[in-house]
Amino acid sequence: MTKLPIIIDTDPGIDDAMMLTLAFANDDVLDVRLVTTCSGNISQDKTNYNARTFLSYIGASVEIARGLEGPFFRELEVAEDIHGESGFGNVKFPAPKLPVSERPAITAMLETIMTSDEKITIVATGPLTNVAALLLAHPEVKPKIERISWMGGAAVGGNMSPVAEFNAYVDPHAVEIVFRSGIPIVMSGLDVTHKAFVTIDEAENILRIGGEFADKAYQLVTYYLDVMKKTPFHEENYDQVLHFHDVCAVMYLLNPELFEGQNCHVVVSLEGITAGATVVDYTNRTDKAPNVHVLHTVNREQFVAEFMKAVEIISARLK
Ligand code: RIB
Ligand code: CA
Repeated sequence: MTKLPIIIDTDPGIDDAMMLTLAFANDDVLDVRLVTTCSGNISQDKTNYNARTFLSYIGASVEIARGLEGPFFRELEVAEDIHGESGFGNVKFPAPKLPVSERPAITAMLETIMTSDEKITIVATGPLTNVAALLLAHPEVKPKIERISWMGGAAVGGNMSPVAEFNAYVDPHAVEIVFRSGIPIVMSGLDVTHKAFVTIDEAENILRIGGEFADKAYQLVTYYLDVMKKTPFHEENYDQVLHFHDVCAVMYLLNPELFEGQNCHVVVSLEGITAGATVVDYTNRTDKAPNVHVLHTVNREQFVAEFMKAVEIISARLK
């Protein structure tokens, strides 16, 4: 079976690391041609370092390119309160063996896409700054992009404001550019990621896999839980579960049958109190053509089972 060629744009980040675990465990299905880092959970210096550290640690061999330093117009707002100052909570990894690519992210994305025989799928699990910059600077890539699978946005609610999810909130202008691009988009917003959670008992099963990697994965996800209990804002059932937001963006590519969604017209608010709000027209009130496939339901038990398999695969590789 031919593999799906993908580029991953990410801001690791704890759930980004879980997403990378899933992606690289399934290297029989996914062909990760390039990883680029965006500013989001923490600064570009830290996301790039974390991507190189984590991917070195799990034995991946992939180019990792630095993206833009921050959003197009807004001041970068990070989420160190959730992911810790390092972005990986209090979990330490050995120094990275994988270098920073000599190519900046936009160049690496352009050249990877334009030299590929097949169309490339982009997985984005942070603010869309890099993806939007690529589309603005090089619109010639559009016909060669199969789809963008993005963790971000929300039809209802928000985790950065009452109406905005973090990745959309950080750079709403980038969301606008991507949503207008005409490229097929699958959006794993909070509507589905709040259902894609791991319970505390299931997290214990990560530990039972054994080995250093499983131990570090357990430490990462439980750091998330401890922090969520102390934050002033509360995501759904924040104190009993761990929302694996970013994992959805890859899980959908591997197992689309686990999800339900709807093609909708989606726009994003750019300014003011609603900045970053993704307005999802579920009932076609605007009578505008759908531009995004919005996921809203997931088979949670199967989602967790597939994730646990990925942890077992990576853990076995490192033993
Ligand atoms: O709202 C969740 C998103 O914000 C995830 O991508 C998480 O990593 C943070 O970036
Ligand atoms: Ca992320």
